[in-house]
Amino acid sequence: MMDAHSAARVMERCEALGRISEEPDLLVRPYGSETMRRANDTVASWMREAGMSTSRDEIGNLIGRYEGTEDKTLVLGSHLDSVRDAGKYDGILGVMVALACVEQLHDRGVRLPFSVDVVAFADEEGLRFGTTFLGSSAYAGAFDKSRLSLTDRDGETLSEVVRAFGGDPDALENAGRNNRDLLGYCEVHIEQGPVLEQKGLPVGVVTAINGQSRVRVGFVGEAGHAGTVPMEGRRDALCAAAQFVLDVESTAKAEPRAVATVGEISTLPGAVNVIPGEAEQSLDLRHPEDAVRERLRSHLERRAGEIATSRGCEHRWQVRQESAAVPTDPDLSALIGKAIEDTGLCVHRLPSGAGHDAAQVAALTNVAMLFVRCKEGISHNPAESVKREDVGVAIDVMSRLLALLAQDGRPNYRAETSQEISP
Ligand code: GLV
Ligand code: MN
Ligand code: MN
Repeated sequence: MMDAHSAARVMERCEALGRISEEPDLLVRPYGSETMRRANDTVASWMREAGMSTSRDEIGNLIGRYEGTEDKTLVLGSHLDSVRDAGKYDGILGVMVALACVEQLHDRGVRLPFSVDVVAFADEEGLRFGTTFLGSSAYAGAFDKSRLSLTDRDGETLSEVVRAFGGDPDALENAGRNNRDLLGYCEVHIEQGPVLEQKGLPVGVVTAINGQSRVRVGFVGEAGHAGTVPMEGRRDALCAAAQFVLDVESTAKAEPRAVATVGEISTLPGAVNVIPGEAEQSLDLRHPEDAVRERLRSHLERRAGEIATSRGCEHRWQVRQESAAVPTDPDLSALIGKAIEDTGLCVHRLPSGAGHDAAQVAALTNVAMLFVRCKEGISHNPAESVKREDVGVAIDVMSRLLALLAQDGRPNYRAETSQEISP
């Protein structure tokens, strides 16, 4: 089943999609943008060439369907949006590998005893609204409608952007996919960390996805003349923000397995000779245990208040998103493990520090993930890199997974891999 041609085509397609960007010299493709629409159209045309019908849902997720012979569906997918100055594989690779698997079935004229839906989620990174998983939360029926009033940098609301992108914002809350026919969801994604490379393995099976909190933190002080206002008594909002950034770092360093990042900061009025009157920053906080993450988030909220008070400033704290940690499904993961073993490789299991659409789809059906080794674990960076040979292994493993699920009419894979518990 190893097919070098399929892997080469996946690499070419990742390159092609990497050129669909809002800015000429870097990859940036936010939710609801013109380039997001072009990426969806491009992928939809590849899906149709692979014998799939295509549709989109209210938020703009692209769905390609390869019909099976029975009324069951396996969902494969990942996302097509990007961070700013992104690599070419984060999210995109998962959609392209899924498409390659369907393409192989189509080329051989094979129909499985279940349909395969390939979903290209429209927003996982949350670049535009400081959230994450807009696409997969809507698909999973877990969309939080309070997010519709969030604004982007230009003051456009999510509600307006959804409408302009062709969806009905008011329908999102109930736009989840029906799950009656679902066998599960499997997502291929680059590891975005160094473990598989260190182990010398091209792929691995994900055990769980860390939870995360995303918060907008603001400090409001008083703008003033940089040359005339004495240092004593200044209410410099950026100094408060800077102190908070270092608190975020030390808080995460003191807690095993915690990571916390301030990735964005902006000031008003933002001039060289004006004391910053306002500063706004992001906070991204993650931990494998939800209770620990919640404790750290409360601690940091308290610290923001204390820092503001000590500097004569006010503070704002807006939790934009909370995602719980999500374990992957043991049965479906075991089947991916079997598919890996069947290729002659050993199975390595690892948790994911990054968030993934699978974490939202878990509200709908059982989920599993296959990680693909990436160079030096670099991601969210244009240097992101995967080997064509590893992509070939991922296609091979996923094709074997489809075959295993199809064997003997198995959607009953659970019966073989899980134990009956007597009442
Ligand atoms: C998605 O890439 C994330 O922020 O984990
Ligand atoms: Mn990402
Ligand atoms: Mn991703």
